[in-house]
Amino acid sequence: MTALSVSTSSAASLRADALVIGVAKGPKGLVVAPGAEAVTEAFEGKLAEVLATLGATGAEGETVKLPAPAGLKAALVLAVGLGDAAEEGYDAETLRRAAGVAARALAGSKKVALTLAGESAEEAEAVALGALLGSYSFSAYRSGGKEPVGELIVLTTRKGSKEAKAAVERATAVGEEMNRARDLVNTPPNDLNPKIFAAIAQAAGKEHGLKVEVLDEKALAKGGFGGLLGVGNGSANPPRLVKVAYTHPKAKATLAFVGKGITYDSGGISLKPAGHNETMKCDMAGAAAVFAAVVAAKRLGLAVNVTGWLALAENMPSGSATRPGDVLRMYGGKTVEVLNTDAEGRLVLADAIVRAGEENPDVIVDVATLTGAMVLALGNRTFGVMSNSEELRERLHVTAGEVGEQSWPMPLPAELVKGMTESTIADLANMGERMGGGLVAGLFLKEFVAEGIDWAHLDIAGPAFHESAPYGYTPKGGTASAVRTLVRFAQQTAAGDKA
Ligand code: BES
Ligand code: MN
Ligand code: ZN
Repeated sequence: MTALSVSTSSAASLRADALVIGVAKGPKGLVVAPGAEAVTEAFEGKLAEVLATLGATGAEGETVKLPAPAGLKAALVLAVGLGDAAEEGYDAETLRRAAGVAARALAGSKKVALTLAGESAEEAEAVALGALLGSYSFSAYRSGGKEPVGELIVLTTRKGSKEAKAAVERATAVGEEMNRARDLVNTPPNDLNPKIFAAIAQAAGKEHGLKVEVLDEKALAKGGFGGLLGVGNGSANPPRLVKVAYTHPKAKATLAFVGKGITYDSGGISLKPAGHNETMKCDMAGAAAVFAAVVAAKRLGLAVNVTGWLALAENMPSGSATRPGDVLRMYGGKTVEVLNTDAEGRLVLADAIVRAGEENPDVIVDVATLTGAMVLALGNRTFGVMSNSEELRERLHVTAGEVGEQSWPMPLPAELVKGMTESTIADLANMGERMGGGLVAGLFLKEFVAEGIDWAHLDIAGPAFHESAPYGYTPKGGTASAVRTLVRFAQQTAAGDKA
């Protein structure tokens, strides 16, 4: 695993395989970003010139490697582009992305030092997190290949070192938990079914001192969890509901995070066509994000209670599968006519949302790869935020932006609920109007939120799984979408901001 530390050594005297410096696009060509003064000196003032000769421009995402001259103890200098030069310093997301690009470009190195952070702890945290996320690789199923960077050192000025150390420790907790979520998403579905996911949660929960309770199929049947059971019926791997609880003695608020955990979504009897099921191992990304966020809250010692609910099932077609036309009795008693077995996420989430609501949390936030419609609306990098409270919706959108996650507030137009409440046989149907499908799914979930509880729904179907070329700190595959938003939301709540 990649180790992360902070150092106040000078860039010149640090022994490392590579030294990362920032470069940017100035009005008159490439400029070297602050922090790399010792490196500029070692190049006798010609660093910008040398880089420009090699074709570097400072554009975002660009990397150029140079052998280090005498005067530096590092073997190699890697210049990473920051984009347009900024006089007042670079924002956190720019630094995170550049650090991520550098860490990925240096895969295979043992020890890498980064000069990208200046004095502020916020900058050190951003560089540390970006580097840790960028060095992620999922190699469990591959022979050979490059090892990720062994040791990442964030260089900072002496003045800010104490705060920087704490900041880098925070980044380590969040980054490692995000990488845990990515591992869970990337693990193929033959090795991550509901039972295995629950066992992993139990083991990791124990390691971190969290209380984990698992309801197996028998307990689910006894409790009347018709949504989870109905979706899991077609699979040889039965469903699970996992509760993972973090409590803090000084907590003044309790948050419930609910995650969609479909370990594989074939569509069930309403089978998905080829071309639509190859990446459906990612359909548990919401549950992975929720689990990672609860562990991160614990590791950060936040003064807030956080309960995670993982709604785990495998959606498969078989002789025992739920049929389009079946009616399920959900946890809490509402009945649902299943018109399309591929709209399964809302069924498992409904059970979990009702169960979460019984404990009267201050807020419920669910996270789910819920609809293709949301991907059509917002693309592959932005998640949709829906809520029964405009204030909460706005707050989550703003929070996401603060931590570098792209999101957009979406409405829950009342008239769209009609298509679902006009089931000829049950309280609700699991499908309504086709137009606005992402909102229809949100409206379905809203029906299961207890009176008086603020609830929000993050549809991460777009950003949860990245299929094109890596960029910034985002690799191919699982991204850990929504983890940082949930963690920052918990941090704000702990700090007394309105829950
Ligand atoms: N897991 C899918 C949604 C999805 C699509 C996630 C693309 C990630 C990428 C979900 O279970 C689903 O199949 N939704 C259907 C709902 C429809 C049948 C009402 C959809 O979006 O087509
Ligand atoms: Mn589906
Ligand atoms: Zn699904």
